[in-house]
Amino acid sequence: MSDNKTATQRTTIVCTTIKDVRSEIDKLKKSGKKIGFVPTMGALHAGHLSLIQHAREKSDAVVVSIFVNPTQFGPNEDYDSYPRQVESDIKDCEQEGVSIVFVPDRGEVYDEKNYLNITVEELNNHMCGGSRPGFFEGILLIVNKLFNIIKPDVAVFGQKDIQQVQIIRQMVHEFNHDIEILCASIVRANDGLALSSRNMYLDENERVIAPSLYRALHYIESQVMSGVDTPKLLLDHQKSELEAKGLEIDYLNVFDKKTLQPVPVLSKGSEYIIAGAVYLGETRLIDNILIEL
Ligand code: PAJ
Repeated sequence: MSDNKTATQRTTIVCTTIKDVRSEIDKLKKSGKKIGFVPTMGALHAGHLSLIQHAREKSDAVVVSIFVNPTQFGPNEDYDSYPRQVESDIKDCEQEGVSIVFVPDRGEVYDEKNYLNITVEELNNHMCGGSRPGFFEGILLIVNKLFNIIKPDVAVFGQKDIQQVQIIRQMVHEFNHDIEILCASIVRANDGLALSSRNMYLDENERVIAPSLYRALHYIESQVMSGVDTPKLLLDHQKSELEAKGLEIDYLNVFDKKTLQPVPVLSKGSEYIIAGAVYLGETRLIDNILIEL
């Protein structure tokens, strides 16, 4: 540990068991601290760190979880190859003044067999839920567990995964979790690409093409803001442009911010999400822009 670290940076506690993390959080709560929570799957980048900074501003002590959650990966998805770099993640958390890092292994969180599940209605029909069956059920399962383990006052999620934020908000409401959910804006590279742990998969050429998704969303935003209210042709055109660059489109559309359903005709006074997901080689990229007309 270097000498120039401050006292707060030195006090990061790493817990691997539910028992230990609960007892450390109890101590913080007994001393009157408001707990901020940032759940992650690790391979931390500046986007995750911005969530931690946001949580620090809104609480007295920040807990970060690092757990690559198997139940949110489909059978042909990248669970095994998902980047894992726990040691450097913990160092980043120390630098950010995180109080507790919770790094459970799979067996600590899940039994051999689960008898219960959380199902999602309608909110996962489109966007990532439409193309990744079981994805949001897996996310709700782990986030529900983590909320029950950590019992935070505030939890911070990124707008990068806007459907996740909205579905978690709904879970908190319907399951009566006493937790305030905050949504932090998307951190991007200089060329506009939204930071993602999966960007590590991109080769040099793919990395050059990758910001096209954001550019397409940005163009759609500018057209919609200047009066295009039936975006179908605009969307079709942007899809063709992206395909011509070698991206395979999963979805590109304008969705209602609350219902998460596609909206063919936009109206004034409403909030929308312009969102897209594309494959670039093996890598799946997602991004979105929130607008209010
Ligand atoms: P993960 O993909 O590690 O993301 C953790 C948090 O970081 C999420 O809330 C995500 O939206 C946010 N994030 C990712 N990239 C970001 C960026 N460029 N700018 C700002 N925030 C960003 O999301 C998950 O993990 C999992 O589904 C999880 C909630 C941990 C449940 O397993």
